[in-house]
Amino acid sequence: MGNHSASMVEFGPQTHVLVTGGAGFLGSALVDLLLSRNCSVTVVDDLSNGSLRNLAVKDPRLTVRTFRIGDPTFSATVHEEVRQADAVFHLASPIGVQLAHQERFAVTRSIIESGFAVIEACRYHRRPLLFTSSSEVYGSGRDRPIIEADPVTTDLRPRWGYAAAKAAIEHLVAGLFFEFGIPTWIVRPFNMAGPRQSPATGLVLPVFVHAALKGEPLIVHDDGEQRRAFLHVADAAEGLLLVMQSRSLHGRPVNLGGSEPVQIGNLAKMVVDAAKTNAPIVMKPSNAVYGDRFAVTYDRVPDTNLLTTVTGWRAVRSTRQTILDCIEHMRIERVTA
Ligand SMILES: NC(=O)c1ccc[n+]([C@@H]2O[C@H](COP(=O)([O-])OP(=O)(O)OC[C@H]3O[C@@H](n4cnc5c(N)ncnc54)[C@H](O)[C@@H]3O)[C@@H](O)[C@H]2O)c1
Repeated sequence: MGNHSASMVEFGPQTHVLVTGGAGFLGSALVDLLLSRNCSVTVVDDLSNGSLRNLAVKDPRLTVRTFRIGDPTFSATVHEEVRQADAVFHLASPIGVQLAHQERFAVTRSIIESGFAVIEACRYHRRPLLFTSSSEVYGSGRDRPIIEADPVTTDLRPRWGYAAAKAAIEHLVAGLFFEFGIPTWIVRPFNMAGPRQSPATGLVLPVFVHAALKGEPLIVHDDGEQRRAFLHVADAAEGLLLVMQSRSLHGRPVNLGGSEPVQIGNLAKMVVDAAKTNAPIVMKPSNAVYGDRFAVTYDRVPDTNLLTTVTGWRAVRSTRQTILDCIEHMRIERVTA
């Protein structure tokens, strides 16, 4: 075990890392990367959205614990896992706009309870902590790339419970650094995509790929001109490691996202083209899908200059590559069967 008072983390054979949500999409890519650096890793995941199939469960350096963080029954277990770790990545969270909109109470509660449990253990044992927040905290979007200093904007429409909970946890994580001197990092991922992302999340790219492979309609919301920038999950995992190795990012939010803005209508065309199918593209108002209280988000594209300037990070995989990897994964895993 390494030096816990260190203000940055080195990832190598002496490092034991705790990854909450490690059986999920981003978490499992991060675990792969940590194992490739010869770290030992413990994953805690309740498998509410993750799967053991995402993990190299036979690797002796990997331990998997399946329980829900935030459940008081496991409070002592969380403390023990955090105590044993040199560094903690807290990724566990419900995800997806659809779920956030439809189950605001459960989603908000889960983020707050699991975040608080991990933060309290990190405070007590003085462990470095990286928390994945979300670009959802920026609210409905901007007509220019979003920087970290842009305001966190939410209102009481159901969708924003997820964002408000993430923002509350950001304050606790920032407080750990500024008031207790514990190294912490806050990452705000924008749209990520790639292998192991499930269409069941309702996230647009896996949903499009799933529909295209089945020859079913790709439903584009509203005018299809809303822009996003997709980041390959492997680039995202690299970004998380680089952030946690940077002292100057302590306690500050940092954007993590793609650099190729694409309109959602065009994304649908790219998916149909890459999947080589004749699946139709159908336009639908988002309110017809989600109801009148749905908060529509227009352009949401990140400015990632802070991350690049401080760490040298760059996304190296294109949007097309991300789509192709998503297609290949669904074909191999027979997600469409
Ligand atoms: N996917 C994206 O585009 C995106 C965008 C912004 C932010 N994020 C954030 O990145 C992180 C990882 O997201 P992901 O896309 O890999 O999602 P995911 O659902 O694939 O992974 C999250 C994992 O956490 C687990 N989990 C949820 N609540 C838990 C709890 N209380 N205790 C234990 N395990 C729990 C789930 O089973 C799942 O395996 C999340 O914090 C998410 O909010 C993701």
